[in-house]
Amino acid sequence: MRLLSTLLAAVLATTAFSALAAEAKDPVEARKAIFKDYKKVFGQGMGAVMKGEKPYNKDEFAKLAEQMVELSKQPWQYFPAGSDKGKSEARPEVWSKPAEFKKAADEHQALIVKLAEAAKGGDLAQIRPAFGAAQKTCKACHEVFKKD
Ligand code: HEC
Repeated sequence: MRLLSTLLAAVLATTAFSALAAEAKDPVEARKAIFKDYKKVFGQGMGAVMKGEKPYNKDEFAKLAEQMVELSKQPWQYFPAGSDKGKSEARPEVWSKPAEFKKAADEHQALIVKLAEAAKGGDLAQIRPAFGAAQKTCKACHEVFKKD
């Protein structure tokens, strides 16, 4: 049994590694996959609670907010020059205005951190505006840097 679980762990580790390697080959796929997680965690997870479609649970909501803190660090490394081709919805402005793109990403990360702090506090009167402010950073960036 011990051997079996060791083997299983090894297989799983290899699979995880090859998934990472595949991501590394295609930055467009990599960043899209992260933004899909954004949608799950921020939209279908936290957003649904904000809209009253799902019950509010302090610990679960705070956990989702922590996941967003981690996710919000990730997409930006996958925008190398020349990766505006193929299935990407990124606008050329990502590369022609790199300082503005970075600023939008930094503001976004900062407000996600604030949202996570509010979520830890568990006070919906603080959480709601923090969620709204974070959500605005998604839209602000998409308006300039993402095709619709
Ligand atoms: C600093 C800029 C920026 C911020 C902030 C940002 N995004 Fe995006 N997002 C992009 C860009 C650029 C793309 C297009 C990526 C591509 O197709 O190459 C994108 C794509 C997406 C997609 C489409 C993924 C797919 O299926 O292809 C979703 C969903 C998404 N973002 C959700 C969000 C949410 C939710 C937030 C806020 C919590 C957010 N984004 C914040 C820049 C941003």
